[in-house]
Amino acid sequence: IPVDPFDLVIFGGTGDLAKRKIIPGLYRRFVAGQMPEDARIIGAARSELDNDGYRDFARKAIEKYVHAKNHDKDKVRDFLKCLSYFRIDALGQDGWKDLAKIIRKDVVQAFYFSVGPRLFGELAKRLHKYKIAGPDSRIVVEKPFGHDLESAKALNAELAEYFDETQIYRIDHYLGKETVQNLMAVRFANILFEPLWNSQYIDHIQITVSETVGVSGRGGYYDKSGAMRDMVQNHLMQLLCLIAMEPPAHFDPDSVRDEKLKVIRALDPVPAEDIVRGQYRAEGDQPSYIEDAENPDSRTESFLAMKVHIANWRWNGTPFYLRTGKRLRARKSEIAVVFKEPPHSIFEPQEGRRCNELIIHLQPNEGMDLRVTIKEPGPGGMRLMDVALDMSFAEALGEDAEDITDAYERLIMDVIRGNQTLFMRGDEVEAAWAWVDPIIQGWIDRGDRPKPYDAGSSGPEDALMLMHREGRRWREITE
Ligand code: BG6
Repeated sequence: IPVDPFDLVIFGGTGDLAKRKIIPGLYRRFVAGQMPEDARIIGAARSELDNDGYRDFARKAIEKYVHAKNHDKDKVRDFLKCLSYFRIDALGQDGWKDLAKIIRKDVVQAFYFSVGPRLFGELAKRLHKYKIAGPDSRIVVEKPFGHDLESAKALNAELAEYFDETQIYRIDHYLGKETVQNLMAVRFANILFEPLWNSQYIDHIQITVSETVGVSGRGGYYDKSGAMRDMVQNHLMQLLCLIAMEPPAHFDPDSVRDEKLKVIRALDPVPAEDIVRGQYRAEGDQPSYIEDAENPDSRTESFLAMKVHIANWRWNGTPFYLRTGKRLRARKSEIAVVFKEPPHSIFEPQEGRRCNELIIHLQPNEGMDLRVTIKEPGPGGMRLMDVALDMSFAEALGEDAEDITDAYERLIMDVIRGNQTLFMRGDEVEAAWAWVDPIIQGWIDRGDRPKPYDAGSSGPEDALMLMHREGRRWREITE
């Protein structure tokens, strides 16, 4: 079903995100018949381009980032007709009056700030000043949403001068991933899991977001952020919230976000011994973190593992282990919910047998599996084995698996539909920073240095110890 007609202005329209995600995503929605014919996408940036130049940029982006089976010449041509380009100076006055003239007042208006946070306030101000945006317009802002609590508060305040919270869509693209949303369906549309979803039955939860890429090419940004700011404050925190939150009373934006906020506010401070920071070494001809970041004295972490406690009735006694890093063994993101042993076993104990686990795979192959114990088939007596009740989306969707919608396109369509459920609210972002800030301050005060780890490994040895010392173990990072 097509969404309502819209004008979408992409500030930073010639940037990397527009090229890799926004334009290819919009094209896929167009092919899927979700974009109305008279939708308009307006790239805005400082480059000297005309409409044709921008369409050329978009065509190349589609060729590079959209699966070849969707490269239909006619469709691409029709899609490009929706595109135009506008030269604009975000810090000056050039172009704004003209932009005001072309934005239609009788359709959905969305303004995507695909630019650095330094420009958020400037853009908001000008959209207001030139009467381009009205009370129903929406703005979309990208991470990083602030660098710490203070800067996040300042950004929120800047935007609030011109836009109501119901108009602000703060993107965390992890919330747009298919499995992340499925997590809510699994938890709240089944009777099976929720009764067990607490510290009485769950031993611990592991959240892993492991990447093989390093930070080369974006070291300038990354070295000032590190894994804590770049991944934990937002993506891992959001995953944690969806796993840990109470069932919302309704599936509407504020009901869901209220529950997530309660989780963040219930997080205990994390003591130094429950955190391991790492930095990758050089490997063969692959540079080290220090070289990638071009900062020989860098103390920034490219890996982080931590044990987190949620101090509330449901979770008291169930630790959450979070882990993320660059240049690790495999690209893999997953959440493992590890259940406790049954209270009494009538079977012979067996070395190495694992208890029930629900594994939610986010990347690279989306799906879930539930590990259960059964009897080993055959006449060999009562020996137990673990099997996976596997629900891989690729199999379930068959031919269409390649069409699993990318996080960005799903989120952009939600903006047009006016649905904020999968976007972060201002108070959520601030609460996350309020938890993160003292941890980072602790590293600075103690002069903490990240532990070196081998590229292609699972991170520093100490990260394994974080679990081993408690008789637990991480799931392996393998393809
Ligand atoms: C971004 C981070 O937000 O998420 C990157 O800035 C990271 O450092 C990326 O690589 C991971 O996203 P995905 O969807 O590839 O897991």
